[in-house]
Amino acid sequence: MLKSLIVAMASNSVIGDKGEIPWKIPGEQKMFKEITMGHTMIMGRKTHESIGRALPGRTNIVITRQPDYEAPDCIVVHDLKSALQHCQSDESEAFIIGGGQIFQETISSADRIYLTVLPREMPGDTYFPEFSESDYEVIKSNFIDAVEPYHFYIYERIHEN
Ligand SMILES: NC(=O)c1ccc[n+]([C@@H]2O[C@H](COP(=O)([O-])OP(=O)(O)OC[C@H]3O[C@@H](n4cnc5c(N)ncnc54)[C@H](OP(=O)(O)O)[C@@H]3O)[C@@H](O)[C@H]2O)c1
Repeated sequence: MLKSLIVAMASNSVIGDKGEIPWKIPGEQKMFKEITMGHTMIMGRKTHESIGRALPGRTNIVITRQPDYEAPDCIVVHDLKSALQHCQSDESEAFIIGGGQIFQETISSADRIYLTVLPREMPGDTYFPEFSESDYEVIKSNFIDAVEPYHFYIYERIHEN
């Protein structure tokens, strides 16, 4: 099973501000939905609360240290290892969808990174961690010239982690 990160960040690596994503990119959410549909998504408790509900058509796994935490229609786990163990045996690709803390804890072991980059800086309080680009091959690189233009890359690991 591939372990993939999927993220949208500004050019200064900001991914969030005050519990939210500080931009809306038309078309980008549709792409997120298409990529993740039918798969397992693993997220931190704060990201789950920022989305506000389980996203349909996908297995939603929420990680928290709170023993009694409840999230309707989601699987609640208390560490990353359990999150990965909850993936179905026939799952081909599990998506880590954020936020900052969970990306920080998984970046060094990611097989793929689906990365949207806004070509401008944004103020914020949550960042995508640095990663070693030389450990990856860029297998897709698109510039989407829309109302809110953005780059979309897929990085695939070429060096063992
Ligand atoms: N731009 C994007 O693509 C994108 C994607 C996702 C999220 N975001 C943004 O990122 C921000 C949220 O990120 P964040 O870093 O604040 O929070 P987060 O990573 O979503 O969630 C952090 C929480 O996850 C739990 N957690 C983290 N590591 C754990 C571990 N090893 N074991 C057990 N539980 C663990 C803890 O929950 P408890 O406190 O309950 O114990 C922790 O407080 C928001 O602004 C959101 O909008 C942006």
